[in-house]
Amino acid sequence: MTSAHQDLRPGRLSGKKILITGGASGLGLACAERFAEEGADLYLADLNREAGEAAAQRIASRFNSQVGFTFLDVTQESSVEAAVSAALDALGRLDGCVASAGISSAGLNETGSEKTVLNTPLAGWQKVIDVNLTGVMLTCRAVGRHMVERGEGGVLVNLASSAARIALPGAAEYCVSKAGVVMLTQVMAMELLSHGIRVNAIGPGFIETPMTAAMREDPEGRARMEGMTPMGRLGQPIEIANAALYLLSEESSYTTGHTLYPNGGIFVG
Ligand SMILES: NC(=O)c1ccc[n+]([C@@H]2O[C@H](COP(=O)([O-])OP(=O)(O)OC[C@H]3O[C@@H](n4cnc5c(N)ncnc54)[C@H](O)[C@@H]3O)[C@@H](O)[C@H]2O)c1
Repeated sequence: MTSAHQDLRPGRLSGKKILITGGASGLGLACAERFAEEGADLYLADLNREAGEAAAQRIASRFNSQVGFTFLDVTQESSVEAAVSAALDALGRLDGCVASAGISSAGLNETGSEKTVLNTPLAGWQKVIDVNLTGVMLTCRAVGRHMVERGEGGVLVNLASSAARIALPGAAEYCVSKAGVVMLTQVMAMELLSHGIRVNAIGPGFIETPMTAAMREDPEGRARMEGMTPMGRLGQPIEIANAALYLLSEESSYTTGHTLYPNGGIFVG
């Protein structure tokens, strides 16, 4: 499939070239499907090679778009650089990036006692910060450098969380990593403004993805998540992909440094 043909596909992201980290699962995967539907060519990058390769093939044939995949560990600087190079080799340029690779902090404390900062193991703390915060910085840095060098602007979208603004006992490292992503997004938005690069984030509430599967299977966990959400239900991945679509598209041309919170009204009720 030639890129000339690709550019003819209609859609809100027609002809756009977009890298998605964490594209093998959950929200990254939902973004990939939604963006391909809107005419984008994609490059997925993820720690999970098997799921990532399968997703890329499936999306390419379903939407007739160009979809590549590479292994990526966002905690490794060289791995991030290699993934962005591979995306550029495959797509020729990047107009956008969604940094969705991430992990939760649930289950880090295996002592059976209630998890708090006081008994959080350092290795577990560092792992979450490395993946969720440093991984986003490395991704935005590598893609941002390419966009600045190319000189035609671009859009970066980072997956933060509503946990950036609500304190979840037992998940300090997760909350802190996501609050960091919100501020990283704001600082980078200012730094890249003059290059025509917009940087925004999304802070979902509780969404039905593999990340929340264990909590959803536990009736108490599900009730807790639903109880915190004024809409009284968990979100679907497509509801986050639609927010990402808006931020990636020209429809949000006056928006930068912003975090959009599709969360069923968590901050309101
Ligand atoms: N699901 C939710 O309720 C929710 C809510 C708020 C924010 N988020 C955030 O959205 C993002 C996506 O979450 P999800 O629900 O799709 O989770 P998920 O577990 O379904 O997908 C996460 C993906 O990231 C990949 N990944 C993990 N570590 C990686 C690493 N070191 N390098 C590269 N890839 C790595 C995994 O292999 C997986 O494919 C995360 O940043 C998460 O914190 C999710």
